Amino acid sequence: MRYLTFALAKGRLAKETLKRLEKIGITCEEIHDPNTRKLVFVNEEQKVKFFLAKATDVPTYVEYGVADIGVVGKDTILEERRKLYEVLDLGFGKCRMCVCGREEVREKLHHNELIRVATKYPEIARDYFYNKKHQTVEIIKLNGSVELGPVVGLSEVIVDIVETGSTLKENGLKVLEEICPLSARMVVNQVSLKMEQERIRQIIKQLRELQQEME
Ligand code: PRP
Repeated sequence: MRYLTFALAKGRLAKETLKRLEKIGITCEEIHDPNTRKLVFVNEEQKVKFFLAKATDVPTYVEYGVADIGVVGKDTILEERRKLYEVLDLGFGKCRMCVCGREEVREKLHHNELIRVATKYPEIARDYFYNKKHQTVEIIKLNGSVELGPVVGLSEVIVDIVETGSTLKENGLKVLEEICPLSARMVVNQVSLKMEQERIRQIIKQLRELQQEME
């Protein structure tokens, strides 16, 4: 039997994914060592491997087939646009991709004015404004703390993830438009899904059943 390899977005998503995989009998002891700096973890008996990657790289590993399966946020899937199959909404890590700004800017969104949009997600922002709203905007790529954009006057709005809404609130910003809901998704390499169909389908089925039990 060949190894089935998982690429997990390190942090909260990886933790919750490992918990769920453990519940369906897929385990890996050494990954739980809090002091480890290792990046690849193997369970020889079950012939599974895990690696913890930066979220934005997970779709890349899966497209190139070095990981058969990936778990990553829908935001990253939409932004990275890799060739892969999205097979399961895992139902955790729920949040929303939104256009946010000060209340006064709402008008500018309605009148298709040329505004600046700061975001970590230029592809999602471009698709939303150009293809869905048919509004020409200037997109400015930032790498974090995007809420600063409208606060310091770099942009009128931001396109960013909203979870609890507290970052927005504390900075005097609001959700002006909702782009799409987000959550953790399981993605699969296109060849792996054919070659390892039985094992992968079984995992999807068990995770889906577990999710139904949890609801
Ligand atoms: C994310 C996102 C928002 C915040 C939303 O940032 O970009 O800033 O969380 O969460 P809230 O609605 O619960 O306040 P993250 O902490 O991932 O870091 P970043 O600012 O570097 O993007």
